[in-house]
Amino acid sequence: MNTVAVVGTQWGDEGKGKIIDLLARDADIVVRFQGGNNAAHTIVVDGEKFILRLVPAGALHPGKVCVIGNGAVVDPLALLGEIDDLKKRRGFNPKNLMLSYEAHMVMPYHRAIDRAREARAGKRAIGTTGFGIGPAYEDKMARTGLRFDDLSNFKLFEDRLRRNVTEKNAYLKAVLKAKPINGAQIVEAMKRERRHLLPYLCDTGEYLASAIADGKRVLFEGAHGTMLDIDHGTYPYVTSSNCIASGAFSGTGLGPHSLEAVLGISKGYTTRVGAGPFPTEISGYLADSLREEGGEFGSATGRPRRIGWYDAVLGRLSARVNGLWGLAVTKLDVLTGIDPIKICVGYQFKGKRYETVPLGRHSIEASKPIFEELPGWTEHLSDARQLSDLPANTRRYVDRIAELVGVQVAMVGVGADREATIVVKNPFTP
Ligand code: IMP
Repeated sequence: MNTVAVVGTQWGDEGKGKIIDLLARDADIVVRFQGGNNAAHTIVVDGEKFILRLVPAGALHPGKVCVIGNGAVVDPLALLGEIDDLKKRRGFNPKNLMLSYEAHMVMPYHRAIDRAREARAGKRAIGTTGFGIGPAYEDKMARTGLRFDDLSNFKLFEDRLRRNVTEKNAYLKAVLKAKPINGAQIVEAMKRERRHLLPYLCDTGEYLASAIADGKRVLFEGAHGTMLDIDHGTYPYVTSSNCIASGAFSGTGLGPHSLEAVLGISKGYTTRVGAGPFPTEISGYLADSLREEGGEFGSATGRPRRIGWYDAVLGRLSARVNGLWGLAVTKLDVLTGIDPIKICVGYQFKGKRYETVPLGRHSIEASKPIFEELPGWTEHLSDARQLSDLPANTRRYVDRIAELVGVQVAMVGVGADREATIVVKNPFTP
C-alpha cells in the first residue's frame, strides 16, 4: 500500500513517534494534518532523543519530504525554532519542508487566553498544554484566524492582526482578568520572521495529490489520540482538532480514496494527561512504578501522566472511528514484572454489561471497568525482533488485545530505541 495513516487509539502518548519514524523509512513524504505544538513525538535515534512538535518525523531521515497540511495550527516562531534545531542536530534540509498556505497561525494571544482560562477554571480545568491550540481553532471556526497565506500582503496581515489583538485584549482584561498582550511586539516579530516563513508555503493539497498519482508513498502522521478527538473523544476533555484518520482528508485537501491503511497505535497499558474520565485508571505503587518505568511524563509539558490498564472498550471504539487496518501495541517491555496484568474487556453501566461505550461519551465517566486477568512475564523483551522471540505470556497478552479489539496486530514495541520493534506486517509492504 502507498498511503498509510498512523493514529493514536487512546489519549495520546501511545508511542506513535517511534512507529512513525520506523514507517518513515519506507515513505517518500510524511504529513502532519492536525493539531499544533501541543503534540510531541519522542523519537530516540542512536541513543539521542528528539522531540518533534510540529515538523513531521520524516525530518529525521535524510531526503524525506515533510508536509504540514492545512488542518494543523502552527505557532510560526515555534516552527522556525524547531527547524533550526533539526538543522543543527540532524542536518535537516529545510527545502524538504512544505507548509500549507491555509494552515492557521497560533498567536501569543491564543496562548494567553488558553492559560488564563485554565487558571480561572479551577476544578473544571481541562488540563490543556497551554500552547493556545483551542483558542487558535476557535478563531479558525469564527473566521477571524490568521493563515499563512495572509503573510503575502503584510499590510493586510498587520491590520487583521491588530484588530484581533484589540479584541483579544478586551476579552483578556474584562473577562479573564488577565494581562493584555503587546500587539506591537507581535507585529515586529512577524515582520522580522516573515521572510523565513514564506519559502515553506505551498499548495500542499495539490502537491500531495500529484505525488500520490505518481505512486509516491505517503505517511499521514496523526497527533494526540482518538479519545482526545474533538468529536469522538471524551468531550470536553479533548483537544480541539480531529485526531482520527478522517482528519487526514480535511486536514490535507485529499479525498477518502487517498488513504489505503490506518494503523492504530495502542500502548500495552493506558495513560492520559489532563483531566477527564479514565475508567481503568490505577493509583498507588503500581501506577508510580509504571510511570517511572515507562517515562510517563508529558513530553510537551513534563506533567506526570495518569496511568491505567488497557481498555478494550475504547480500543473497539477506536477501531470503528478510524477504520483500523492494524494495531501497533507499544511499550510492552514496561509491563515486564507485573503479574497479573489486567485488561478491561467491557463496561458495567447502570447494572448492565456493555462491550461498547454505553450511552454517549458522558457514560464513560460513570462506567465501571470489567477486568480480565492475564498472567505476566519476567523476561527482558527489548531484544525480541519477531513474535516467536516473545515469552508465551507476552504473546498471549498481545493476541488477547487483538481478539478483543477485532484488529490484527501489525507491530509490537519492546523498547524505546528505533530498532526495538517487532514488525509483523508493514502496511507499506504487507
Ligand atoms: P490542548 O490540546 O492543549 O488544548 O489540551 C487538551 C487536552 O488534550 C489536555 O488534556 C491535554 O493534556 C491533551 N493533549 C493534547 N495534546 C496531547 C498529546 O500529544 N498527548 C497527550 N495529551 C495531549
